[in-house]
Amino acid sequence: MTVLGQTTDLALSAAMREGSLAEHQAAEDSSFMSELLGGRVNERGYADYLLRLRVAYAAMEELVRAHGDDAGVAAVHDEALERLAAIDADLDHWLGHEGGVRTVDSPAADAYRQRLVDAAAQWPTLLVAHHYTRYLGDLSGGQAIGRILDRTFGLDGAGIAFYDFPEIAKPKIYKDGYRARLDALDLTAEEQERVVDEVQTAFRLNQALFAELGERLPAYAR
Ligand code: HEM
Repeated sequence: MTVLGQTTDLALSAAMREGSLAEHQAAEDSSFMSELLGGRVNERGYADYLLRLRVAYAAMEELVRAHGDDAGVAAVHDEALERLAAIDADLDHWLGHEGGVRTVDSPAADAYRQRLVDAAAQWPTLLVAHHYTRYLGDLSGGQAIGRILDRTFGLDGAGIAFYDFPEIAKPKIYKDGYRARLDALDLTAEEQERVVDEVQTAFRLNQALFAELGERLPAYAR
């Protein structure tokens, strides 16, 4: 929890960033992420990561569409960001055309989905925190991660559609516009604190995915 008032003197986008710096660092430092980016995770490991992300994005994208009438959600909702089809295309590459439903036995992914459902039920604007945490991350560090994977696995662009936003030519400009839309939202100080707290929750849910995958690193050794 942030202390009430701690980040309320900042614009919303700055409060979300400042309020999650420590969590961001922890995500970067997770053993799964560093092993993946070091080229020491095999195809199965990356597919298991994508299967977990698939649960989170499927839930988030469905909920965001369902709550498009919420002013907060409306400010950020953009179909150009949606990742589910890209994840499925990538899974075709990493798993082969296995067909069927792509389910995964993952308590961390289930908890992520459940929190999205609960957050939307409590106050749909909380979805903005989840939206920001994933998509601004995908448009930031995610762009570098995609390039590293491409190089490490010699993919020549195959299997990394997740990092490619065909309709967003310039991520930096897009992110500036996104932050401006966040900052134009008319939230009270207390509402802003709730959103910042939810960003921290979103990062922790991601961290839990990494922790779960980190436990399997021996099986993923490459
Ligand atoms: C921003 C790197 C993992 C969420 C950034 C930026 C970098 C970065 C360099 C700043 C980009 C800019 O100023 O435009 C990385 C690296 C990661 C990583 C190297 C892993 C090794 C993550 C994860 C998440 C995440 C796992 C969340 C699930 C974000 C968000 C921002 C961001 C939300 C935007 C911050 C803001 O400007 O408001 N990341 N990141 N990142 N990252 Fe990451």
